[in-house]
Amino acid sequence: MSTLIDGKALSLSLKEQMRDRIVELEAKYGRKPCLAVIIVGDNPASRSYVRGKIKAAEFTGMDSRLVELPEDVSQDGLLDVIAGLNAEAAVDGILVQLPLPKHIDEDKVIDSIAIEKDVDGFHPQNVANLWLGRKCIVPCTPKGIITMIESTGVDIQGKKAVVIGRSNIVGKPVAKLLLDRNATVTIAHSRTKDLAKVAAEADILVAAVGRPKMVTADMVKPGAVVIDVGINRISVPGPDGEPVNKLVGDVDFDAASQVAGYITPVPGGVGPMTITMLMENTIECFLNRQ
Ligand code: GUN
Repeated sequence: MSTLIDGKALSLSLKEQMRDRIVELEAKYGRKPCLAVIIVGDNPASRSYVRGKIKAAEFTGMDSRLVELPEDVSQDGLLDVIAGLNAEAAVDGILVQLPLPKHIDEDKVIDSIAIEKDVDGFHPQNVANLWLGRKCIVPCTPKGIITMIESTGVDIQGKKAVVIGRSNIVGKPVAKLLLDRNATVTIAHSRTKDLAKVAAEADILVAAVGRPKMVTADMVKPGAVVIDVGINRISVPGPDGEPVNKLVGDVDFDAASQVAGYITPVPGGVGPMTITMLMENTIECFLNRQ
């Protein structure tokens, strides 16, 4: 049986520390860090994530601003809103919730965010700095994953780490962060040959593919640290036979937790840590701007 890496509890403890920190920052600098979150349209999953981000900001005591734009806002309309927030001295962090509607070019939007306010760490200059090993804002989900691995006390150095998934938001940056900590890193993906065999060699396994329960127990090395980044909404039969929605990860938790040394749950694992790292990044941007 494995030890649970409780992202919810770890998040709560970090956010409580931030609450004290923000009181000190306000006393020292005369204002609090401020996060602006922009959401376009009403995708229910995006709305739920954004609500979580604003709620976390309120919990820590920082200032926050929610900008809600209609699904049919023009690209120029969105870029104007970002330009306004870029210019506003009281705003430290700007996050545009992704994905955006198809008529908007996501790259243009990310490129338009002032680098010093890029709390997501998605701006190409930030990404370049991460890969060059320079000072940067580290993307929230990868930063949360590393914090969770480190919370186990397992030393990353020299370990075999396998990251399944190669997205710009999770797979690639988390691989770089593991490499920075001297892990031997493999990035696996949908075309990887013998994925099960590759995964089963990992001391640290990060699943970020977006396929419900694709990591089965035979893909987990006994004692491994397993980080499940997936948030998949599936329909399962409820108590009276009616279909009900359920959140599941990319890992078959019940089976994998019999084999792993440490494992994150879904929900209550990577999700809350991502939001907490966003709060940390907002404080970091605030400090960088002083
Ligand atoms: N959509 C899914 N994950 C993220 C994230 O980390 N940041 C933003 N801006 N949008 C997302």
